[in-house]
Amino acid sequence: MKNLEDLLGEGVSGRYVLVRSDLNVPLDGDTITDDGRVRAAMPTIERLAEAGAKVVVTAHLGRPKGEPDPKFSLTPVAKRLSELLGAEVALAGDLVGESARATVGGLADGGVALLENVRFDARETSKDEGERAGLAGELAALVPGGAFVSDGFGVVHRKQASVYEIARALPAYAGGLVLAEVEVLKKLTEDLARPYVVVLGGAKVSDKLGVIANLLTKVDRLLIGGGMAYTFLKAQGHEVGKSLLQSDQLDQVKGFLAEAEKRGVELVLPVDVLAAAEFSPDAEFEAVDATAIPAERQGLDIGPKSRELFAGKLADAATVFWNGPMGVFEFESFAGGTRAVAEALVESSAFTVVGGGDSAAAVRQLGLPEDGFSHISTGGGASLEYLEGKELPGVAVLDSGGQ
Ligand code: 3PG
Repeated sequence: MKNLEDLLGEGVSGRYVLVRSDLNVPLDGDTITDDGRVRAAMPTIERLAEAGAKVVVTAHLGRPKGEPDPKFSLTPVAKRLSELLGAEVALAGDLVGESARATVGGLADGGVALLENVRFDARETSKDEGERAGLAGELAALVPGGAFVSDGFGVVHRKQASVYEIARALPAYAGGLVLAEVEVLKKLTEDLARPYVVVLGGAKVSDKLGVIANLLTKVDRLLIGGGMAYTFLKAQGHEVGKSLLQSDQLDQVKGFLAEAEKRGVELVLPVDVLAAAEFSPDAEFEAVDATAIPAERQGLDIGPKSRELFAGKLADAATVFWNGPMGVFEFESFAGGTRAVAEALVESSAFTVVGGGDSAAAVRQLGLPEDGFSHISTGGGASLEYLEGKELPGVAVLDSGGQ
């Protein structure tokens, strides 16, 4: 597939380049609580700007309902982009309307503008291909004679107008971030060094069914923590009190337990948990065995014995993929399990990949060195779908040269 280097080689001075970035950052009000994705988007934007392109960035934030909603405005993101670039990034007040045309029209060579949240237009996520193509056509018309650089790795698993159809409407190139991310994920699927250990956490097992099924055919060891662990514990016949439980997934999870046994995959569950009286940052809690969670309590983190167990199971790994926190790491009292896994990865000499989303945010929030990991992905869902063996539409369309 053609990439950023090819485009730079063609020369971009004075030419419009539309860049799809993933700038979907967590916000507290209008404060960005983790700017990892904005920082990861910078190298491609900077290189294009330095080469004299007129850079027009398009991105989404959250899941607005296909119409403008100030709660999901990219205003805080434009501010952060400006700070990191050291130059003003103008934010258009709309996506393809009058404000966007004026903002894009006013760009100087080497200038960068950001279009307002692409999901303010219902056509972006429409199931109707024609509607998506319509929006892509309008985006392309904003940048006459322009090229498209797909750099939002976190969104390449979405068949959406600004990811997929736009790559058919303009000459399309893979950005540096998309290339780097795909390169790393390839290493996890081809010729990897063993033992291969995967750590999965996060709230819901239902979000990870496909990836678990696929990983059971690949990994040597699968460590399960976070909210999803309680459905596994229940499937083993243990009571989990008021912990998160997806009863409708019990049969599926029993199937996973049987499959792991059949395949000789070591499936490791927490042996103890921090059982809290309520879901709150200052809840009273105690460490209890995972087989003895009191009926009125809920597990909000893996306990000290589990942390040691998990660290031990990671110690001899040669390749590790980790996705999903081990507990409610946003609450200091329940961040210890996630911290223990992150520290075990930092200490490990294995090829270690942190798979996006909350786990990447947790690594930074807990103050761990980012260079302590081989790779921290910007894509949560995208990296999971890749490991699940699914085709990523945003990558496939680049591979096929926009056909
Ligand atoms: C993400 O946060 O994983 C990406 O930005 C994609 O967002 P989405 O799940 O809302 O499509």
